[in-house]
Amino acid sequence: MRLRSTVLLLAALVACQKQQGSGLVGADAKGPIVIGHVASTTGTEATFGTSSDRGFRIFFDELNAKGGIKGRQIKLVTLDDQGKPEEAATAATRLIASDHVTALLGEVASTRSLWMAPKAQMAHVPMISPSSTNEKVTAVGDYIFRACFIDAFQGFVMAKFAHETLKLSKVAILKDVRNDYSVGLAKVFAEQFTKMGGTIVATESFSQGDVDFKAQLTNIKAKSPEAIFEPGYYTDTGLIARQAKELGLAVPLLGGDGWDSEKLYEIGGAALEGSYFSNHYSVDDPSPRIQAFVAHYKQVTGLVPDSLAAQAYDAAGMLADAMTRAPDLSGPSIRDALATMKNFAGVTGDISLDANRNPVKPAVVLKIGKGGKYEFVTRIQPE
Ligand code: PHE
Repeated sequence: MRLRSTVLLLAALVACQKQQGSGLVGADAKGPIVIGHVASTTGTEATFGTSSDRGFRIFFDELNAKGGIKGRQIKLVTLDDQGKPEEAATAATRLIASDHVTALLGEVASTRSLWMAPKAQMAHVPMISPSSTNEKVTAVGDYIFRACFIDAFQGFVMAKFAHETLKLSKVAILKDVRNDYSVGLAKVFAEQFTKMGGTIVATESFSQGDVDFKAQLTNIKAKSPEAIFEPGYYTDTGLIARQAKELGLAVPLLGGDGWDSEKLYEIGGAALEGSYFSNHYSVDDPSPRIQAFVAHYKQVTGLVPDSLAAQAYDAAGMLADAMTRAPDLSGPSIRDALATMKNFAGVTGDISLDANRNPVKPAVVLKIGKGGKYEFVTRIQPE
């Protein structure tokens, strides 16, 4: 009899938690508001995780100094997923079940966000990815948000740039088939570039972590493209640039935000000069918000903030804004406040979320200049 009632009580508790989301646990507690961050702080995408974490911490340190939220301080708990999708899912589960986080931040890589998101959705813990651009991420459910534009737009931006600005008509594609971001962005680019009158003369594939791209590049060279669209991450991109040069393939590479890392030029060197990629912002943009952020970040870290740091700073700002407006800190209340976000003044632009919880924001195109310096080329607005 005793056992039976204990079991019933437990079942009732579980049901209650399920319904209200674990966010409510945090809301009732005193002490800090715990926020989880899942990031690749080691591995071949380590700069993605470390830069994002810096952006988050700079924001929360400033916020805590101003008194925090609802009189409570923010505590950020970061777990490293080593760049592995399964680890991202495990980290999300641990943050929800053991740390009882009020919200989740991360991941950067779309594939890893796609592994995390079902955990957040099931527990009704709001999740904001600062930089995952693949369309499917926020489609996982109504608790999943992002601070960046999506690849339908990013692919359009690079197709338009290739066609209108560079006046190219023949482009080859080299994509990472194990990366949802790369596959999705390659698809949109091909559709848009073809629609504009261009031709995709070759489509080749690789898998994250490959080190020899010569076979693919040789096939591409045989089709004489005027550029190669390569929407990969920085480590692979650096190696691809070098090997293309070695094969005498002297055309620019075009890519997306996944190139952004201080390691890109360290790996690819001069072979990258003259290539172009789309990104979330430019540190050279005279916008006062950007200049204030860049100056503050430099002062605190001694570094120049890449787009991941800026995007993380904005994602943290969105979360803080929603937590401030929400009547309480339960998962559902924060979710509802996030869903109605309009004209949030972010560093990377004004952020309004559409019905699918995606921001509508401009993108920039950057050129890799001498010594690896990013040169601002253009800013493209959503149509
Ligand atoms: N947009 C990339 C993705 O979805 C991640 C990324 C964003 C990487 C910004 C670098 C800079 O996978």
